[in-house]
Amino acid sequence: MATKDPHSYTDTSQGRVAKVELDLAVDFENRQLKGSATLTFAAKVGGPLDLDSRALTIDGVKDDRGAAVAFESGTPDPVLGTRLRLQLAAPTTKVTVHYATSPSASALQWLEPQHTAGGKAPYLFSQCQPHHARSLLPLQDSPMVRFAYQARLTVPAGLVAVMSAAPGKKEAGGSDQTVAYRFDMPQPIPGYLLALAVGNIASQDLGPRSRVYAEPETLGAAAREFAGVNEMLLAAEKLFGPYRWERYDFLVMPPAFPYGGMENPRLTFLTPTLIAGDKSLVNVLAHELAHSWTGNLVTNATMNDFWLNEGFTVWAERRIHEALQGEEALALAAAIGRDSLNADLERFGMTSPFTKLKTDLAGIDPDDVYSQVPYEKGFLFVALLEATVGRKKIDAFVRAYTDRFAFTSITTEEFLTFMDEALPGVAQKIGARDWVYEPGIPANAPAFSSKRLEELQALAAAWATGARPDPKAAKQWSVDEWLVYLGALPKKVGEDDCRWLDQTFHFNDSGNAEILCKWLVMAARANYTPAFAKLAAFLGHVGRMKFLKPIYKALAEGQQTRALAKEIFAANKDRYHPIARGGLEKQLSG
Ligand code: BES
Ligand code: ZN
Repeated sequence: MATKDPHSYTDTSQGRVAKVELDLAVDFENRQLKGSATLTFAAKVGGPLDLDSRALTIDGVKDDRGAAVAFESGTPDPVLGTRLRLQLAAPTTKVTVHYATSPSASALQWLEPQHTAGGKAPYLFSQCQPHHARSLLPLQDSPMVRFAYQARLTVPAGLVAVMSAAPGKKEAGGSDQTVAYRFDMPQPIPGYLLALAVGNIASQDLGPRSRVYAEPETLGAAAREFAGVNEMLLAAEKLFGPYRWERYDFLVMPPAFPYGGMENPRLTFLTPTLIAGDKSLVNVLAHELAHSWTGNLVTNATMNDFWLNEGFTVWAERRIHEALQGEEALALAAAIGRDSLNADLERFGMTSPFTKLKTDLAGIDPDDVYSQVPYEKGFLFVALLEATVGRKKIDAFVRAYTDRFAFTSITTEEFLTFMDEALPGVAQKIGARDWVYEPGIPANAPAFSSKRLEELQALAAAWATGARPDPKAAKQWSVDEWLVYLGALPKKVGEDDCRWLDQTFHFNDSGNAEILCKWLVMAARANYTPAFAKLAAFLGHVGRMKFLKPIYKALAEGQQTRALAKEIFAANKDRYHPIARGGLEKQLSG
């Protein structure tokens, strides 16, 4: 039976798009992309064909004979958007849709110059995962449908356009005020991996296959922070097999970017909050790189199978991390992950369906239930598999898996079938179906331990009895040691405790956004006002939801701090990404 994607109007029995050609002009004044999308089908089609769209203005549709195609837009659904039904005269190989995007397109964030590092040029970027590509172009926006794409973006002269594709020629844009950039993505990708950014963007080579893109003001620091990318790429190939996307470039975004990273093929997007000055947060780069195998080669069929993307990728990220940093580093990273998982298990409740690996998100916006479950429960599942069959076999298994399903999209059930074939009896032995279909964390979840990890956890657990880190020793702690320690402290520490931490370790001055975030959450819970100037500045600068959500939540939960949360949000909401703004609005009104 064909899988139905609950987040798309796609009906593959009507036909499949195999290639997309975009020709779009980027209009910063009207916050609009305007032009055309030509969709070529895998085989000739006729009759009704349903596409996904969201807030698009459709000016007209033509088929490959140049004949007008009748189309009809359905009633907008808050989660799915609008069904665009084309009535195709048989046999049709391609259609061209002339259209414009809305200024409120959910995939796009338009930044004023003052919200960029340079402060002079505007900036535009997209974030299509999970179901926002449809606000950029009409398409079959289900990860089950993959297409190659070519694009031509016309942008204001002086600005640079980049995409998740091989860059082509730069050419005249049709007027003195514009230039056009061409792109080609020959490998078939799901719609959520389509990506673009436009701004004052420069670049620097970091290795034979990698280049960092960023605003000129950020480029030097970004190049230093991520100088190890080639070494990482080589480590990943050693573990998972040849890299199949030719180049691995990445773009360091303005601070408004709502995620840590996004695995857009050939051009990962990264938050600038990773630039800590000491390479301590480069695991996010390893994660996005690892998606080049798990996620971008083998893709989840729908968001109900999202754990296939993220669980495997967290596991792969930690294998890269271990290969480069050693076993001790792996134990700390796993402990930090487990702590973040526990917070979400507590938020949902252990019996919540959102704690299953395979979910049923029909009628639910995936952005509303984004959590660490697919990541960290998924990681624990793969780690259990590894602990059960051993390194040699898990490595062979993951290679066979990514080879077998390369450039396809699969369901959890297809994965389980493959597992039964490749590792007979193992699913049964580890209770794989309970892991996948039941809520909570099974009792056979692997525990990671190391001497250092236990020391830090014991010290944190003894906080209430007065145990404190020795200031001299703690000044030498690594970032991950701090994150383990802060994560293991009691949820609520007092105002005086905050004062001691502040005066001893000066967290307000930390250049590490992860440490700063944990500290600000603690300070917000304790109503420790000396941290609030820093807190307001941080919330006024970053747009990464991983940081915004817990800090706003901590403020909103305290009677004395709730008003402050609303005040800071009101002052900054126009600067936040549409997805972040929407999520925080729900959080603050609840
Ligand atoms: N693909 C995700 C980001 C994403 C997921 C965007 C779902 C929209 C919907 C990306 O690979 C990711 O997982 N990023 C993490 C970093 C990682 C180290 C866990 C993030 O942004 O924090
Ligand atoms: Zn990921």
